[in-house]
Amino acid sequence: MTAPTVAAGRLAGRVALVTGGARGQGAAHAARLGAEGATVLLADVLDDEGKITEKELQDSGYRSTYLHLDVAEPGDWAAVRDLVDERYGRLDILVNNAGIIHVTEIAEESLAAWNQVLAVNLTGAFLGLHTLIPLLRKGTGPAVVNTSSIFGPSGAVGYAAYAASKAGLLGLTRTAALELAPDGIRVNALVPGGVSTPMNAAEPDGGVVPETPLGRRADVAELAAAVAFLVSDDASFVTGTELVVDGGFRTR
Ligand SMILES: NC(=O)c1ccc[n+]([C@@H]2O[C@H](COP(=O)([O-])OP(=O)(O)OC[C@H]3O[C@@H](n4cnc5c(N)ncnc54)[C@H](O)[C@@H]3O)[C@@H](O)[C@H]2O)c1
Repeated sequence: MTAPTVAAGRLAGRVALVTGGARGQGAAHAARLGAEGATVLLADVLDDEGKITEKELQDSGYRSTYLHLDVAEPGDWAAVRDLVDERYGRLDILVNNAGIIHVTEIAEESLAAWNQVLAVNLTGAFLGLHTLIPLLRKGTGPAVVNTSSIFGPSGAVGYAAYAASKAGLLGLTRTAALELAPDGIRVNALVPGGVSTPMNAAEPDGGVVPETPLGRRADVAELAAAVAFLVSDDASFVTGTELVVDGGFRTR
């Protein structure tokens, strides 16, 4: 793989919030947005990892701050909104990336596990939008990205809660795009295929790699490049859609 090229300065002056930013794709999104000039708030429940990522970004010369945020908690979102409002008075970029995975077939699934996956993956993104719309309305070129998955549009055995949450995000994305278009706020979904992150490090048999025409998992930088495009003015006429970054998985 050749490394994606950073468009230095493309996001200069923008204020961005990335949920699930402590590690994996979220940390890569934060680094890429920082490299393009944005001030990045990375939010997560993994406070130790989040602070390490914050320092790595700062050491790279990027403006970044770690915040504790459980995306399933409305009170946490209200605290983040107040902090962003006090510090910047607006928000330009929201990347709803936080997510969890849980693998059990429907017959054996517990209601508690189902509810937890929906609470983090789907309700978390709803709460982010719901709470931060007033600050996005004051933003410059405001843009939101919701992280779905190839299992949203396609489904997968054992992934009912996960797939339902990721399919739900596509409906949330389209509806938010319609509701917020009059405010000039763009809302799109990122649809990753297999990506090498801690989430799937223990997956047997390479997960979806055997069904992926390009024959590998994505590097997080390849997803971050797509997010940077979606939140930049290069995507100024792109809203309500899905950017599929899956190595060809959906062509099968
Ligand atoms: N890795 C893949 O193959 C893949 C494929 C498709 C979609 N995704 C999605 O990409 C997103 C990023 O996942 P990743 O691959 O980087 O995995 P990851 O597990 O490395 O990162 C997920 C991050 O979300 C955080 N998080 C979990 N619950 C949270 C909560 N309640 N509040 C705040 N943060 C929370 C985690 O602490 C972690 O830092 C997720 O939404 C995931 O579903 C991943």
